This record gives sequence, structure tokens and C-alpha cells, in this order.
Amino acid sequence: MLFSISDKNINSFNGDITLIFVVNGNFEHVNVQDKELLEKISFKAEQDEVFHLVEKQRLYVGVSSLDTGLLRSASAAAIRSIFGKSAYKHLSMAPCENLDEHSIQAICEGILLGNYCFTRYKSKPIISNLEKVTIYLKDCSNPAEKEAIQNAINNADIIANATNFSRDIVNTTPDDCYPEILAQIANELCKNSALECNILKIKELEQQKMNAILAVARASRHDPCVIHLMHKPTNPKYVVTLVGKGLTYDSGGLSLKPSASMVNMKSDKSGAAAVLGIMKAIGELDLPIEVHGFIGAVENMIGGDAYKPDDVLYAKNGKTIEVRNTDAEGRLVLADVLSYAQQEVNADYIYDFATLTGACIVALGAYTIGIMGNSDAPKTLLKNASIPSGEIVTELHFNRFLKKLIKSEIADISNVSSSPYGGAITAGLFLSEFIEEENKDKWTHLDIAGPAFVEHTWGENPHGGSGAGVRLMVNLLQNLAK
Ligand code: BES
Ligand code: ZN
Ligand code: ZN
Repeated sequence: MLFSISDKNINSFNGDITLIFVVNGNFEHVNVQDKELLEKISFKAEQDEVFHLVEKQRLYVGVSSLDTGLLRSASAAAIRSIFGKSAYKHLSMAPCENLDEHSIQAICEGILLGNYCFTRYKSKPIISNLEKVTIYLKDCSNPAEKEAIQNAINNADIIANATNFSRDIVNTTPDDCYPEILAQIANELCKNSALECNILKIKELEQQKMNAILAVARASRHDPCVIHLMHKPTNPKYVVTLVGKGLTYDSGGLSLKPSASMVNMKSDKSGAAAVLGIMKAIGELDLPIEVHGFIGAVENMIGGDAYKPDDVLYAKNGKTIEVRNTDAEGRLVLADVLSYAQQEVNADYIYDFATLTGACIVALGAYTIGIMGNSDAPKTLLKNASIPSGEIVTELHFNRFLKKLIKSEIADISNVSSSPYGGAITAGLFLSEFIEEENKDKWTHLDIAGPAFVEHTWGENPHGGSGAGVRLMVNLLQNLAK
């Protein structure tokens, strides 16, 4: 998509359709005839409410206030309403009061995220024809402001495309996206950028004593791998490690999921997809932050060679884990990959992304990322990135009583809690056992099980993978780079 800005009068626009925001029910700037018509059809300009005035090629959308999250969502709703209509190739955005660069970025992100559609498995796909967007500004005579807006558009383009890239990975079926394919995607990223990549195959995983991930992988016909992507600028301001859960399919293993819960478990690689999307964006933005993306890529299946409830695993860091439920596999994979990541990189911050627990969805709903850790500093960075990126985060606090629930009678720790309650936090506490003492204050776990996969369209997210975590973390890293 080509975005450009213009300070000409919008009446000179000779494109196909014009997007007009009606903010907080204020119709003052709406053309008088249109206003009458909008009243007739009871268009209230509620948030995300769209009206397409076909004869005049105008697309009205309601937005409750000039909040960036609401602008992003309204723009996506508007674009969705004209998706696949071949007549609309060039869209203009009518000027609106008080739009700073942050608002423009949110609108451009909304346009790109709303225009996304996953078509790989459609024999007759409906595709978007939108190629060009011209943004008319009230006044862009100030060169510094103009540059800030150009920059915002560039950011939006990179960030939204990285989110859509992550969505594609999540939406791809387990037969087309298994661990080796995730490794291929990572290698591909390096071909067109300064990113570097190292893939650990089964032999190296054995050498590294990553027995937990190896156990999870055993019943799959696909070998597991660990992916390490790197963005290494000279004189980086910070070093940040990202770790992603890449379960290309989670059947539950021998503790098999019931049929209804297994559907959409292709999305259990969303943590990996987030890390890949973030690395793509960071490479393109060329931030002065050293970023390492680690992915544990593996499939959790059943079979004669499957790992079992009752097994005791020797994790990479030497701790023993009693397996009581093979469906709590994500934490086993992360245990090893977190240990490996800490061995390889001395980072200032460590974040892991995982569709780790159904309990997190029960606790927070489908729209919110649960964040957990031992220290405020890395969590504060996430909270600061939340509103500008449009991704909601909520903190879930550890406590010593919940910690007791993952004790094991025969090993150092059990992979499930002895209580059915508080499952998101006990999973987080399990992970914290694999964070070295000197890194405890640097680490935060993000449970993205809720927002990673969308059952019913919300905000700027269509059905399927949402790309959860990408916008949030890119915003955080951009803040660190300032
Ligand atoms: N991948 C699932 C968590 C999940 C559930 C993600 C629903 C997205 C939607 C994870 O591996 C899992 O199965 N967790 C179990 C843990 C339990 C056995 C302690 C769960 O949440 O039920
Ligand atoms: Zn599972
Ligand atoms: Zn899982």
C-alpha cells in the first residue's frame, strides 16, 4: 500500500473513495446534504459504525474520541466494509482537526490491519484492490511536523505489515507449518535484511541437554528445532531477549484435548509468530537495540513413543520436572528455551510470549495479555507501550501460596498445579523456576492465549491470528531506542 500526504484541497482528489471520521457524534463538518441523509438512516456515528454513501463515494465512520486505539479500530472497520470491492483502488482521508503523528500512525495501521485477509486456502479468493491512500492534512507547512508524519506513516507500514506477517504464520495449518517451516521462515527473514539466524536441530538440542523440548516432540513425525534470530547493531543502547512458544500443533499429547478444545490449536505457535513478526519489524526499523529472538518449535502429538504423565524430565538447567499432564507442554518447551537463551545472551530484558494457558483467557477474557514476573521494571515498559500500540495488558501477581501448588513429591517441580484455580499464574511461576537468579529482575512472561487467536472480529482484528504482541513489543523497543 502506498501512503502519501497532501496539503492540497481535498476537493482536488480524483481517487475512488473518501474516508470521513465523525468524531464524538459531531456532524458539524459533514456536508449538509449528507448530514440529512445520515440522519434519515439513523447513522449515529457510534464507534466503528460505518456508512458507505455509494453515489458520492464517501465512507463515513464513527469514532467516539480522537484516542489512537479508537481511530485504529474505526479505520479498520471502514476498510473492512469496502474489502474486495474492485472499484476502490485509491482512497483519500478527509482532513480532521487535531490529528498529530500518533493519530496518523494509528489510522494507517488500522487501514493496513483492516485490509488483511488470509486467502491461502481459498480457491477463489476475494482480494483487496486498495493500492493507494492519500491523507489530506489541514496544514502541513511546518517541515518538522511533515517529517514526523512521514515517519509515523513509515512506522505504521512496517509495524502493520509485521503484524500481518505474524497473522499469516498463525493461520497456516499444521500440515503446512511445522517446526522446519518456522525455521525456513526465520532463514528467509535473514535473506532480505541484516538479521542473522542460527537453527539448532535435534543433534544440537541433545548436545545442549534440552530434554524437555525433546520429550514434547517425541511422538511427532516432525523434528523439533530451536531458532535463534539476531539483530545486532553497533553500539546498541540495550540488549533484549525475546522467547516464543512455537507449538505448531498442540493436540494435548497423551493427556489428549477434547475435540472442541483441539480446534484452532494451530494457533499455539502464536508466541513464535510474534517473535518472528517483531524481529522482521526491528530489522526494517534498524533500531539501535540488540534483539535476540529465540523460538522453541515443536509439535505435541500422540503415539507409541509419546512422553507420558508420570515421566520425569531432566531440563536443560538441571532441574527435574514431574510430568502430570502432557497438555501443559508449553512451559516445558519454554523452560529449556529460556535456559538456552540465558546461556547464550546476557540481556538487559527478557520477555517470553506464549499461548500458555486457557486459565489466562478465563481470568482476563479474550482481549487481554496477562503479564507476570518478579520485578516491576520490565512490566512497566510493557504497560507504557500498551496504549500507544493498542494492545491491552494486565498484570497477574505471583504469590507464595500459589507457588506451593507446583511442588512435586518425586521431582523438583510438577508441570501442573495441584489446584484447578489460578492456572495462568502457576504456569508463570513454573517458568520463573527456569530464570537464573541474576536475571529474575529482567524477565516478564506474556500469556497471549486470549488475544492471539480471534474467534469473532474485534477492533482491528479479523477472524484468525491477530499478531498479538508484535505492536506492543515494537513500541516498547522503540521507546528503549529513544
Ligand atoms: N496451548 C494450551 C493453552 C491454550 C488454551 C491456548 C486455549 C489457547 C487457547 C496449553 O498448552 C494448554 O493446553 N494448557 C493447559 C494447561 C493445563 C493442562 C494445566 C490448559 O490451559 O488447559
Ligand atoms: Zn497444551
Ligand atoms: Zn500449548
